[in-house]
Amino acid sequence: RPDRQIPAKLLDWYDAKARALPWRALPGEPRPDPYRVWLSEIMLQQTTVAAVKPYFADFTARWPAVEALAAAPEEDVMAAWAGLGYYSRARNLVKAARAVADLGGFPDTEEGLRKLPGVGDYTAAAIAAIAFGRRAVVVDANVERVVARLFAIEQPLPAARKAIREAADTITPEERAGDFAQAMMDLGSRICTPRKPNCDACPLAGACAARGNDPERLPVKAPK
Ligand code: ADE
Repeated sequence: RPDRQIPAKLLDWYDAKARALPWRALPGEPRPDPYRVWLSEIMLQQTTVAAVKPYFADFTARWPAVEALAAAPEEDVMAAWAGLGYYSRARNLVKAARAVADLGGFPDTEEGLRKLPGVGDYTAAAIAAIAFGRRAVVVDANVERVVARLFAIEQPLPAARKAIREAADTITPEERAGDFAQAMMDLGSRICTPRKPNCDACPLAGACAARGNDPERLPVKAPK
């Protein structure tokens, strides 16, 4: 049973309050460049938005398109990546850029994207939705927290992941799935935070099953 109210409220909030981030669509563009979406999603995998911004600016200035990155010596890319950490991401970045150049462009489905080195389920869904407008269920740690609270999923992680994913599926709209995904990420990083969530400012407070019942406890972590 798809829910239309939750995505509608969230997208209204996003239209009013979205963060302007360098990898999002420029004003007037329906969707951002897949190369910029892919590059940003790889950089954001284990790194904060604030730390990624200068690297994203350097990479896109130096290699403005995937063909340029594909032609770069791996050592130049590794040197430019220095400081971001998790260097397997940079090695996979070069491999994936070369695969995409050989294909003549980015695959435009989750399944096709998933075959690129360094692109897992989350990243494939994010690129398919954000860059290609596909309906994909995009669940990262921020989204997991928002959904666990919205539906008061009391089961501990990691077992709760299946229920969280199914719940996320029921609120993902057919249209604007990319904006919806990024709105969920923004909500998780700015409002529905791990500690002291700001429920008074939340566009989904009226629909939230955990509101007033200590949302901070969710999602429950399995004891170590
Ligand atoms: N974290 C990962 N991808 C993101 C995106 N597209 N916007 C904001 N935060 C993110």
